[in-house]
Amino acid sequence: MGTPRTAAPRGFVCTCGFHASRPFGRCPQCGEWGSLQPRSASGAGGAAARAVPLSEVRGGEAPRLVTGWGELDRVLGGGLVPGSLVLLGGEPGIGKSTLLLQLMARLAARGTVLYASGEESLEQLALRAARLRITEPGLHALAEPRLEAVLAEATRARPSVLAVDSVQTLLLEEGSPGSPGAVREATARLLAHAKSGAAPLVLVGHVTKEGALAGPKTLEHLVDVVLLFEGEASSSYRVLRATKNRFGSTRELGVFEMRGEGLVEVPNPSALFLAERAAGASGSAVAACLEGSRPILVEVQALTAPASGPPRRAVLGVDPYRVALLLAVCARRAGVDVLGSDVFVNVAGGVRLSEPAADLAVVAAIASSASGRAVDPRAVCFGEVGLAGEVRASGAADLRLAEAGKLGFRRCVLPAACCKEARAAGGLELVAVKDVRGALSALLSVR
Ligand SMILES: Nc1ncnc2c1ncn2[C@@H]1O[C@H](COP(=O)(O)OP(=O)(O)O)[C@@H](O)[C@H]1O
Ligand SMILES: [Mg+2]
Repeated sequence: MGTPRTAAPRGFVCTCGFHASRPFGRCPQCGEWGSLQPRSASGAGGAAARAVPLSEVRGGEAPRLVTGWGELDRVLGGGLVPGSLVLLGGEPGIGKSTLLLQLMARLAARGTVLYASGEESLEQLALRAARLRITEPGLHALAEPRLEAVLAEATRARPSVLAVDSVQTLLLEEGSPGSPGAVREATARLLAHAKSGAAPLVLVGHVTKEGALAGPKTLEHLVDVVLLFEGEASSSYRVLRATKNRFGSTRELGVFEMRGEGLVEVPNPSALFLAERAAGASGSAVAACLEGSRPILVEVQALTAPASGPPRRAVLGVDPYRVALLLAVCARRAGVDVLGSDVFVNVAGGVRLSEPAADLAVVAAIASSASGRAVDPRAVCFGEVGLAGEVRASGAADLRLAEAGKLGFRRCVLPAACCKEARAAGGLELVAVKDVRGALSALLSVR
């Protein structure tokens, strides 16, 4: 078992001299397509590649950098992975720089970290740090939009984590900053930098109005993790979720509150999301949802009103197509016809629900608004609604019920198919339903 005399290719190299630890379709330095070759194979015919048993490959086991912020670590899948590139996206003003500065301050306790900003001056950064009461001496800042200079300083200082804010403001030698090409090239260069060392890199990217991250979708393919920081401008709650994660689930959710002194994690978001609920008002229903491994109760609100013209639809927090489908189901299967009315649907607290188990609450909120009858304020519900009006099973009924019980709810309207699993959870009165009609009569009958 000696070391083979012909070493395996170590990384890739371009004809322009650019080195990378992984192949690129296009060289991030010179922009040439297909020019990167395995290092030992460049020029000559190339050495044979040799596969190895995966079970014998060591590495990739370096410990993650844990921020100690439970909400963030969970979304990351257990902390930052060495050598990874994390893209932190969100609308301007949502709090990306704040989150990043606080994150870096937490990591600075264990080694020097570098926060490079192309958006703000050192004075502005210091002002924010003072407001956030950040005093860690290990947090170094650089106000520098030129990518080359940022990379040079990172190479010299070798921080344990590098933050770059933002990809749109980075200046390359040529091309205008923020253009799709420049953004992509800057990201590719930063990726090569991250892969060449062990330090994770967090890159901020502004989300355009259309919701695209930093313009081209290709950016999301380049990076290891895409985090989205979301929330309503009017609300102080912020939700962090991973839309891509090579090292963890994309179903986890982190909840923060934006305060004057910075972002504070919200360990029990259900209580917070329901805090301002006008219990007993029509058009409001509580959904027992599951975001990742965590049960979360949220208020779904609906308002229906006579249309003056073509019926309008405005939907926040749930998939608008799903709502369109549910409106049709309400009309055809439950006798609640608001197809000709204006319909507004909102999920309180700026949460975005991704699971179909929220269907039943959407239907209940719409039917409640249309009929003027309030949903039982002590009841929660969950269940996917099918086109035939049937209520389908959703997973983890026990987790949902436990959360509802914890928050003082007394009844749960749930798919009949979930009842067996749910009985074990106990505590709440369970109302098993097979279809939307049954669900609505259970939810709307109590005044
Ligand atoms: N002096 C302040 N007091 C309280 N909150 C502030 C203050 N300054 C900024 N903020 C909050 O921080 C947000 C801006 O955060 P920032 O991290 O700069 O956003 P982004 O980097 O996503 O553009 C503001 O929308 C506001 O909610
Ligand atoms: Mg910012």
